Amino acid sequence: MDGKLKELEERRAKVLAGGGPKRIAAQHAKGKKTARERIEALLDSGSFVELDAFVEHRCTDLGMEGVEAPGEGVVIGYGTVNGRTVYVFAQDFTVIGGSLGEMHAAKICKAMDMAMKVGCPCIGINDSGGARIQEGVDALSGYGDIFYRNTLASGVVPQISVIMGPCAGGAVYSPALTDFVFMTEGSSNMFITGPQVIKAVTGEDVSAEDLGGARVHTEVSGVAHFRYALEDATIEGIRKLLSFLPQNNIEDAPIVSTGDDPNRLDPELAAIMPDSPNKPYDVRSIISRVVDAKDFFEIQPDYAKNIVTGFARLSGRSIGIIANQPQVMAGVLDINASDKASRFIRFCDSFNIPLVTFADTAGYLPGVGQEHGGVIRHGAKLLYAYSEATVPKLTVILRKAYGGAYIAMCSRHLGADQVLAWPTAEIAVMGPEGAANIIFKKEIDEASDPAATRAEKIADYKKSCFANPYKAAVRGYVDDVIDPRLTRARLASALSMLLGKRQTNPSKKHGNIPV
Ligand code: HXC
Repeated sequence: MDGKLKELEERRAKVLAGGGPKRIAAQHAKGKKTARERIEALLDSGSFVELDAFVEHRCTDLGMEGVEAPGEGVVIGYGTVNGRTVYVFAQDFTVIGGSLGEMHAAKICKAMDMAMKVGCPCIGINDSGGARIQEGVDALSGYGDIFYRNTLASGVVPQISVIMGPCAGGAVYSPALTDFVFMTEGSSNMFITGPQVIKAVTGEDVSAEDLGGARVHTEVSGVAHFRYALEDATIEGIRKLLSFLPQNNIEDAPIVSTGDDPNRLDPELAAIMPDSPNKPYDVRSIISRVVDAKDFFEIQPDYAKNIVTGFARLSGRSIGIIANQPQVMAGVLDINASDKASRFIRFCDSFNIPLVTFADTAGYLPGVGQEHGGVIRHGAKLLYAYSEATVPKLTVILRKAYGGAYIAMCSRHLGADQVLAWPTAEIAVMGPEGAANIIFKKEIDEASDPAATRAEKIADYKKSCFANPYKAAVRGYVDDVIDPRLTRARLASALSMLLGKRQTNPSKKHGNIPV
């Protein structure tokens, strides 16, 4: 037995040594942890159980015969985060550049299959040179197997991708198919074709960082959701995100009591709203005062900032928040904001997380660029996502809710379960200035003093009650007009009332959201 145990120890030590001290030192020199160090930092201390440590490649082409690849360049297994089970895989760049061959892919697929079987999140840490060139189509088929599983797992278990190194070619599609993408600044890249290919094909000169670094994907493309300066902070972010999520689509998120009284009144809330309807304010200052313990975890904080999305809790229960941001482009809805919010809404609905919407928007962004870019198609996603969502849906109209944006921001008509409005709400087809210009055009044009007549007509329009919430409340489209100070208490009450909500949409294979 002793001999057998010795062999086991030796074999395991070889695997644990990864690509060896030199390559590990090179990894550290780039400010990067090794795959095992990352898993260690991510999971609760001592909880990681490694599987498939002894898997080997079976490629004999292009000099691969006899090439040792400890762990096959990827570490997989399970453990816990905040005491709850997760499956994890982490590519090991110190072993053939973390490149993905047939058996490397098979290990990742095993982790994904097990996550699906037990119903727990799957977290993938990507740090790889992409398809292992020597393995040709076997490597490509490995990617295909992963994409297929990403798709089937979508909406069943949360999938999180972490980019902590290169991620190029078709390899980027696995992260893109997952629910949330984290990137670390300075060491992570995502692109389909790299700088050299771009230079050869289009003549454009661009660095890897400017092409597909963390800043680009969190600010410009919207491919990634979170960017952190260092790996430790990135890992903390993943742990925080997981704390808001259920394990799978048939469970609820954990209840986390913060001791914050659900009936707490907030006298400051009323003061945040400016007197002038055209003055901006930061909607996050409202959100943080409403939710438990001011704890709002924003998703994609640097992308499409005109809409705010994120997780928080009310009475200890996770909620997904969507809010127009009057501080950025007056909170208008545009292509990117519609995409950002729709994807978030669909995630929350998939995983039984109630939606709370704060509306203050003058509408969809006018412009040739938006129209030609397909704002109709993208904007329609928001209507679709809200309409098909069956989780509890609560809406607070803070100020402007004009035109299509009134409908789109989870109005009663898209199935909101409760719509509350602040007394500052203005619900109308359009703002007073625009409306007066159109419906009183003739009178204004023919007046001896058009400017004075216009001002008079705007005042008339405002007076005729469109610039307030009561016309909508009269119809029952708004359930109640509330004192802003009561917002937290009313939302907490509505959420608790809706705990038993059961809603089933018409039976179908699946819908066809405009993409
Ligand atoms: C085999 C690879 C590899 C690959 C890296 N290595 N990428 N081996 N297949 N794809 C090996 C290197 O030979 C080297 O081995 C070790 O990993 C570390 O790589 P270095 O180049 O020394 O590291 P670095 O200088 O940091 O550069 C990293 C890199 C570069 C930028 C990722 O290695 C690179 O450009 N690799 C190729 C990237 C690529 O084009 N991949 C194919 C993408 S297409 P030694 O033994 O020297 O340590 C794709 C298709 C997917 O993935 C399609 C899915 C549908």
